[in-house]
Amino acid sequence: MSTWDDLAAHQASVASRPLAELFENDNRAADFSTRMGEVLFDYSKTNIDATARALLIRLAEEAGVAARRDAMFAGAKINQTEGRAVLHTALRNLDASVTVDGADVMPAVREVHARMTTFARDLRAGRFTGQGGAITDVVNIGIGGSDLGPAMGARALAPYADGPRAHFVSNVDPAHIHDVLARLDPATTLVIVASKTFTTQETMANAQAARDWMAAGVADPAAQFAAVSTAEGKTAAFGIPPERVFGFADWVGGRYSMWGPVGLSLMIAIGPERFDDFLAGGRAMDDHFRTTPFVDNLPVLLALVGIWHNQICGHATRAVLPYDQHLARLPAYLQQLEMESNGKRVAMDGTMLAMPSGPVVWGEPGTNGQHAFYQLIHQGTRVIPCEFLLARAGHEPDLAPMHRLLAANCLAQSEALMRGRSLDEARALLAKDGLTGPELERQARHRVFPGNRPSTTLLYPKLTPFTLGQIIALYEHRVFVEGVILGINSFDQWGVELGKELAATLVPMLEEGADAGAKDASTRMLIDYLRG
Ligand code: F6P
Repeated sequence: MSTWDDLAAHQASVASRPLAELFENDNRAADFSTRMGEVLFDYSKTNIDATARALLIRLAEEAGVAARRDAMFAGAKINQTEGRAVLHTALRNLDASVTVDGADVMPAVREVHARMTTFARDLRAGRFTGQGGAITDVVNIGIGGSDLGPAMGARALAPYADGPRAHFVSNVDPAHIHDVLARLDPATTLVIVASKTFTTQETMANAQAARDWMAAGVADPAAQFAAVSTAEGKTAAFGIPPERVFGFADWVGGRYSMWGPVGLSLMIAIGPERFDDFLAGGRAMDDHFRTTPFVDNLPVLLALVGIWHNQICGHATRAVLPYDQHLARLPAYLQQLEMESNGKRVAMDGTMLAMPSGPVVWGEPGTNGQHAFYQLIHQGTRVIPCEFLLARAGHEPDLAPMHRLLAANCLAQSEALMRGRSLDEARALLAKDGLTGPELERQARHRVFPGNRPSTTLLYPKLTPFTLGQIIALYEHRVFVEGVILGINSFDQWGVELGKELAATLVPMLEEGADAGAKDASTRMLIDYLRG
């Protein structure tokens, strides 16, 4: 029997065990939680017991997680379908020396980081200005990994933002750029065009629109543009001078790129020193991931909980529920990180995956979600493993009692999910309200909570730049470990290509009325409608 089989057999044998039963062991919470510095990960409210954990760790060992992890950090070309190394970790480990194709890649990384720092400092201090004075607003134009990281980070670290205001435009829907630029003055705005490839249709369309807007407001529009890309020839063709082009290598995947030049808008907003704290947080998680035994290794444990819930228990989705308003964009960020990385049905060796690929990831900040979709989480027919995140303290000391309300709600949800409410408890509550007989019976069933719904909780002292770095690196490595266990390449994204190709064929059909005869009847009907 394989370890997968052992896990399936064990899961079947414990599936009906009430989670509350696990807490009859007084050490349950301590045994099934772990800390990395001041970050606490509690997975005791899951059905993972000592046997399941040992099997899951065996699975990780058999999959070669440690060797592959070390290969990644060492610059080996583990992204096999694209023939690339995977070295986003180098962006936050500036003192390291990492060799790719026989050459140390770090001098170039350090050089760009230093140029970013100087540029951010000059801009924040008013030494680099717009044509109407100091830069007041920075607009990052990018999509996917060239947007979600800095946009999520700027929201997360808003309490530390003391530089120009950061804005983000991603969608090719003209409403997005229109609505953002409408509030800004071109004479005091810097536009950063962030695109690894510098070919992405949405970004190029938005960049062109921004340049037209800038040209209508200032004499020299290119002077207020910067670019972040691996394609320096293309940035020059767009008219951005090399001193404001911040390059990076192809071994930084888009969804892993916020640590380097893609984070420029964030660095400008919070300042280079705090940005470096963010890098230090990521580096601390790297060190933990590299050196900690699996049983206490946060990224490994998060991954094993994920594998248990998705591939072993068959729960197809997981909800990410930050009880932290500043992490409002974390679920969207993780959707790309997790689903673009592990949403694949072909394994690295070309065979079809024999099990589900990575899960559907979704979520909203608590407590908003409670008043929207938690009904289904508590009483629906599907089990949704929930992942709560919560800080011990917020950034609003004057409103600390509200933070306690927030925390109480977070803890209440994981407790309710685990314990549920039995039919007898529901009956007793209704009897207290004066209901009796058939009406009491009829109502009681609707008030039952099945319970036994798993959740994890990640606690941290406060959402500082350092903590955010820890959290983001934690999720990156979790995705990595899950990918290794599933045997897939987490670093390509071929699944986004077909839609891009078809969009290119549709533009002329919508624009110039080109013949749509080759399209299916549904698509033809939709084209006809849109042509008006
Ligand atoms: O369409 C998917 C994707 O390639 C992502 O992987 C990437 O983050 C995004 O597009 C943006 O790509 P680029 O930075 O090259 O514009």
